[in-house]
Amino acid sequence: MILWYSGTGNSRFAAEQIAVGTGERAVSMNDLIREGGKPELSSALPFVFVFPTYAWRPPECVVELIKRIKFRGSSHAYFIMTASGDVGDSEKYLRELCETKALLFMGLGAVRMPQNYAARFELATVEEDRQTVQAAVPVLREISKTILAGQPLDTDPEMAKETFKSHHLNGYFKNHMNSDRPFRVTDRCTGCGQCSEQCVMHDIVMQDGRPVWQGHCNHCMSCYGNCPTEAIEFGSKTEKRPKYSFFKLDFGPSLR
Ligand SMILES: Cc1cc2nc3c(=O)[nH]c(=O)nc-3n(C[C@H](O)[C@H](O)[C@H](O)COP(=O)(O)O)c2cc1C
Ligand code: SF4
Ligand code: SF4
Repeated sequence: MILWYSGTGNSRFAAEQIAVGTGERAVSMNDLIREGGKPELSSALPFVFVFPTYAWRPPECVVELIKRIKFRGSSHAYFIMTASGDVGDSEKYLRELCETKALLFMGLGAVRMPQNYAARFELATVEEDRQTVQAAVPVLREISKTILAGQPLDTDPEMAKETFKSHHLNGYFKNHMNSDRPFRVTDRCTGCGQCSEQCVMHDIVMQDGRPVWQGHCNHCMSCYGNCPTEAIEFGSKTEKRPKYSFFKLDFGPSLR
């Protein structure tokens, strides 16, 4: 079973590629996180978790979900992290997580995908992003083959160098960089409510037809990137930045 969590679509795409490559089904962790509770998941084949890197670690909402899930069937777990650069020492945290769940850690695959973090960084051009995705496809194919063969998965050492940052900057990021206060809407907002419905953190409520952020955001960039009218800004810096979402790269079925 392939389980994905994704803010702006990169990890969902990666999961769908692995689902095709392994013949397994892809299941949304976004829905499971949003729904809460203690889900039970059953699979005779390994559980394969696919998600983005947040501040050189697995996203907290994914870690908390995995802690809550009751796994039945296979005890093998593979992890795939998409990242614009570096997953740091995420393996350490995933191994620890597996121990608490009596899952056998089968390895972490790191896949370079476009940068989506417009709140903090400049983004690439659409053409550069398309090339990044095209380069990721053969990597995902190899990962699928390794999983199908039941072999352990290795992390590309080029994408696991920033170990110091995983331990020392992750906490700073969560405490000081995660504020949703700078989010605002422009008059392009139609009040459709999509941002509120899609937010896995339940951080957006609609008031008088406009989104209002509630202070428990994880900066996934989903609302920002997926708003149909591109009405969401983060402070003033994003005014000149693209509203990144994988779906805007417009690959259609061409990469399958
Ligand atoms: C809050 C946040 C933190 C991020 N931290 C990192 C990071 O530590 N290392 C990295 O290489 N990319 C980082 N990124 C980039 C994303 O991991 C990358 O673009 C990912 O593919 C996005 O996946 P998604 O579209 O499935 O949400 C970060 C992005 C966000 C939004
Ligand atoms: S998704 Fe965009 S247009 Fe719709 S309510 Fe949210 S900000 Fe407004
Ligand atoms: S409010 Fe925060 S957590 Fe919710 S969709 Fe927007 S960026 Fe993601």
